[in-house]
Amino acid sequence: MQNSPIGLMDSGVGGLTVLKEVQRLLPTEKTVFLGDQARLPYGPRDAAEVTTFTRQIAAFLRQRADIKMLIIACNTATAAALSTMQRELTIPVVGVIAPGARSAVQATKNHRIGVIATTGTIKSDQYRQTILTKDPNNQVFSLACQNFVDLVEANDLDSDHARAVVRAGLAPLQDRNIDTLVMGCTHFPLLRPLIQDVMGPAVTLVDPGTATAKMATSLLDYWDLANPSGVAHPAAVYYTTGDVDRFNKLADNWLKETPVRAHQLPVATLTQTTEVG
Ligand code: DGL
Repeated sequence: MQNSPIGLMDSGVGGLTVLKEVQRLLPTEKTVFLGDQARLPYGPRDAAEVTTFTRQIAAFLRQRADIKMLIIACNTATAAALSTMQRELTIPVVGVIAPGARSAVQATKNHRIGVIATTGTIKSDQYRQTILTKDPNNQVFSLACQNFVDLVEANDLDSDHARAVVRAGLAPLQDRNIDTLVMGCTHFPLLRPLIQDVMGPAVTLVDPGTATAKMATSLLDYWDLANPSGVAHPAAVYYTTGDVDRFNKLADNWLKETPVRAHQLPVATLTQTTEVG
């Protein structure tokens, strides 16, 4: 089991922001990433459907890659399916919301925290609830920015159009006097420079991927699952249910590692994979 890879999943390339942190903090771990781009976006879908997709992907990664840990590198899927997956799988399953909420609580000084995420994550209200559970002495301002996902998937990260979309999307948060903003969708850290620019330097941006990767390191040690090989940077495996060239281009830009050569995975393979464990 120790030699098995860590599995990460997202609806698209956003989860690569978590993968990058995992690869940085855990350089000897093998990783396998699946971006379900054919069924993106997850944000507008209802929780039951997102849970079904997450279950299919978890089953595929268990069967095909024998993963020893699953990181749900998607806030929408974490909100919808984390507790179900933790119940159904026999391996540790990590989500991004609790680590992101914890980071925000630790970062804020004025106790006014903004959260931007997909429609589904905001509708679930999980960030607000989790932040308040960890420290009720906070005010949380939640805002859905679903169209930021489209910018990232189109690799439109710094054009005038992207800047205008980000500015308009964040407008409702401008007069809230927040000092901390959670990027509660794993696609959003790819827009970090634009988001920081629009919010101004006084606002601390929280990328839940960083704390999630730290949580994964602790869990590997706790469960004695860390890879003992001592071999640095083993090859990572990538799957997309969408267009491989588009995935490779975005992944190469973001990871700046050895060239990414993703495998194309038909959605039908996922829908036929049901057995978990
Ligand atoms: N990256 C995903 C998240 O963190 C979802 C984007 C989408 O498919 O709507 O929520």
